[in-house]
Amino acid sequence: MKPAMKVEDLCVDLVTRRQKKRIVDHVKFEVYPGECLGILGESGSGKSMSLKAVLGLLDKNFQVSGQAVFDDKNLIGAPGEELRKLRGNQIGMVLQNPMTCFDPLYRIGSQMAETFAMHTDWNGEKIRSVSLEVLDQMRIHDGAEVLEKYPHQLSGGMLQRIMIGIAMALSPELLIADEPTTAIDAITQYEILEEFERIKREKKKAMIFITHDLGAISKVADRIMVMNSGRIVDQGDFHHILHHAKDPYTRLLVEKRMAVMDRYRDILKREERKPCLN
Ligand SMILES: Nc1ncnc2c1ncn2[C@@H]1O[C@H](COP(=O)(O)OP(=O)(O)O)[C@@H](O)[C@H]1O
Ligand SMILES: [Mg+2]
Repeated sequence: MKPAMKVEDLCVDLVTRRQKKRIVDHVKFEVYPGECLGILGESGSGKSMSLKAVLGLLDKNFQVSGQAVFDDKNLIGAPGEELRKLRGNQIGMVLQNPMTCFDPLYRIGSQMAETFAMHTDWNGEKIRSVSLEVLDQMRIHDGAEVLEKYPHQLSGGMLQRIMIGIAMALSPELLIADEPTTAIDAITQYEILEEFERIKREKKKAMIFITHDLGAISKVADRIMVMNSGRIVDQGDFHHILHHAKDPYTRLLVEKRMAVMDRYRDILKREERKPCLN
């Protein structure tokens, strides 16, 4: 099978008048249709920069080299207009903070309509029916009412689900989600992760899921790549990362997570032991 995206030798340098600083260092990965690649790493490890470089979202201060082949084309160095068309249509993106993706002054419905009008040739009627479908698929009730609402009238989790729905409605071959559950509470986080799992299973899309959360990544990713200081320091499935990761940073991530789990188990045990008071 052909990978949906194949990245090789990706380097990003931040170039200032005084110096050149390497931010992404020879990153290499591929992701196949129906598969979710998880990119794990602490804040500042170069996860977002790697994907932004591939999608042409970095400004002139950053020098990008390497290859990122999508649909038989190398995206590195491709004209801005070409990349703009690709984003949204063939490559969907869901970003960290849903609040910043919506304009506070416009109703949800008109913002969805604007996005669909930009990327498709759908007429008004079709746009409205797809918008309602998106909300329904993302399990948001009373869709017609929600379309009339302003972003601040909805929860972060709802906005995030709408973002995922919009991205999916444009039927991209590759969906990239950069920390899509960071800004929302744990229960909603769980729902969003379920949504990603469902999309992967049912629609056979290629997905890249970026996070610093080992728990979240274990739920959706088939393969995990760990980044630290702009480099790939480990890769494998969740079992491998948990038991055989060699990189000290990865071990630290795993141990921190285990410690949280142990503490949680201890609390549960203590609760069980508590005598009944009445
Ligand atoms: N706008 C910027 N200007 C200069 N350096 C940046 C900028 N954004 C990020 N960086 C640097 O790039 C590195 C990688 O950042 P990033 O990819 O955003 O990390 P993360 O893994 O948290 O997504 C960071 O250590 C930071 O120093
Ligand atoms: Mg980031």
